Amino acid sequence: MSVHISAKKGEIAKHILMPGDPLRAKFIVENYLTKAKLVSSTRNVYFYTGIYKGRKVSVGASGMGCPSIGIYSYELFTEYDANCIIRIGTCGAYTKKMKLFDLINVEYAVSESTYAKTAFGWAADRYKYQGNAYNTINATAKEMNQAIVEGIIHSSDVFYRKGKGNPAVVKKYQALAVEMESFALFSNAKFLGKTAACLLTVSDIIPTHEKISADQRERALRPMMELALNSVLKM
Ligand code: HPA
Repeated sequence: MSVHISAKKGEIAKHILMPGDPLRAKFIVENYLTKAKLVSSTRNVYFYTGIYKGRKVSVGASGMGCPSIGIYSYELFTEYDANCIIRIGTCGAYTKKMKLFDLINVEYAVSESTYAKTAFGWAADRYKYQGNAYNTINATAKEMNQAIVEGIIHSSDVFYRKGKGNPAVVKKYQALAVEMESFALFSNAKFLGKTAACLLTVSDIIPTHEKISADQRERALRPMMELALNSVLKM
């Protein structure tokens, strides 16, 4: 048990898929895993461990924002056997060059967040994926004929803000899209010498206000889930 996860030691796999939403974690388990067991439901943030094509994998939600994924990923890395966390989330594209349903393998998360500075005394405004999961995902996407964009994204500290301007860091790095978690996941993994990657599906195009509809979501997120699961098989 850790402070926020009630699983026993040994009940969490080395590789973890981490959507933001607990119901999405449940969807992955029900659609792709066998012999799945619910190992933590503290705060209704469900963690499951099961088998995908012979490989043990855990799936659990991060919640929203750097503080939340910061807590879950840190406890998984330090109190369990977790070696690799792949975040699978959605993002809003800043540019019309991106299309709904596009998949991004995140190379850098840039942010105005003080997360890494507060946690580790690090002042950088960007952190990279950690370890080999990023390259394995790219190679697996190729094998699956799944188009993927490798790119820089913005981990925003806020969803709602005054006016229409974006933080300077978005322009500085020409971030393709916005989400709210990768910056904390990547900095935790860097500090702890662990592996972390982030796959994002474009769920909205900010300049045009296009959005994936609620009934498109289930189908829309399957390619990302399957790519993450098939990548774990190679790690
Ligand atoms: N902002 C932040 N996070 C997001 C967005 C957004 O517009 N869309 C999907 N995740």
